[in-house]
Amino acid sequence: MEQNILQQHFQDRFGCADGILFAAPGRINLIGEHTDYNGGFVFPGAVAQGIMAMVKPNGRRWVRAYAADLQSYCEFDIDDEEGPKTVHFRYIYGVVREMMARGVKVEGFDAVYAGDVPLGAGMSSSAALESCFATAINDLFGGSLGRMELALVGQATEHKYVGVNCGIMDQFISMHGKAGSLVRLDCRSGEYEYFPWHPKEYRLVLVNSCVKHELVGSPYNDRRNSCERVAKLLGLETLRDATWEMLDKVKDQISAEDYMRAKYVLGEVDRVMAVCDALQRDDYETVGQQMYLTHEGLSKDYEVSCEEIDFLVDEARRLGVTGARIMGGGFGGCTINLVRNDRYETFTTEVQQTYKAKFGVDCKVIPVVIGEGARRL
Ligand code: GLA
Repeated sequence: MEQNILQQHFQDRFGCADGILFAAPGRINLIGEHTDYNGGFVFPGAVAQGIMAMVKPNGRRWVRAYAADLQSYCEFDIDDEEGPKTVHFRYIYGVVREMMARGVKVEGFDAVYAGDVPLGAGMSSSAALESCFATAINDLFGGSLGRMELALVGQATEHKYVGVNCGIMDQFISMHGKAGSLVRLDCRSGEYEYFPWHPKEYRLVLVNSCVKHELVGSPYNDRRNSCERVAKLLGLETLRDATWEMLDKVKDQISAEDYMRAKYVLGEVDRVMAVCDALQRDDYETVGQQMYLTHEGLSKDYEVSCEEIDFLVDEARRLGVTGARIMGGGFGGCTINLVRNDRYETFTTEVQQTYKAKFGVDCKVIPVVIGEGARRL
């Protein structure tokens, strides 16, 4: 969305266009899926797509917000205990309330926002929205919260106001992304390291199945509950600290489903480390193999894939793609593909044709550009 379109909407709604612009990105994740709430490692990067908002304090105790893409408007009192019913606006309400709870002297504001992260594509449009407003509120109302605290504001919003018990990956990377770099985050300690991403012979590309994934009220929370049950039985805080021997010992005491889910998580923790090692050697073939293994785990053991996505991954394999897997929470959305430059044209062209022939729907190819984290423009 162009800045001037936001300005135009702001002018039309609020009679001026001198608000401040803020932006925050969606994300990709190379590997480390469903590991964040298990205290494991993730390997995300911010993308060029995100949410942009024009925001201006209005001197009242209410918020007036217009979502330009959705053509949807909402007003709420920031002191109201309940907040708006529409899920979409509960993200903004949640951020406001969480910032207030952390001592920021939030006042009312007017906002117009829009974005180019496809909704329900597993690219974290909701984290982009939360990070954008957390950054704006912190900046405009003299808040002094650091980037990690702002990420926690977004996560608390998901937990308390939307009902998704997500981990920290999406909000973390939306706040900490750096153009050209992926980040390895240890979700237990909060320590992170930037890894410049510049393979000469490979590219990352997303394929959006256009099956809308929806984590609100979804089996996402069930997966997390399974992991927590197993960790508790093992006397551990999270599955990050579980070993294969420990898991085998309790196999008979847990459901087959919980076992499969825990098995996936243990495998994924190992795969992230294997990928980090491989990246030190510029060994992208190994990175790709690990991505395929992750997909197998997510599809068969964690059961968060779907027919369309499995098809896209099978097609990637058939067309000589180095690595491919479902990305994000699951249940639809995008695959992430590591593709050699010399396979790129064939893959992206053919996969669109075969997907259309099989499902009668267009999938969308989205080249990955690693972009900046949340900021005032
Ligand atoms: C969603 C959640 C994240 C993470 C991923 C799966 O995107 O918001 O916290 O759990 O799913 O890796």
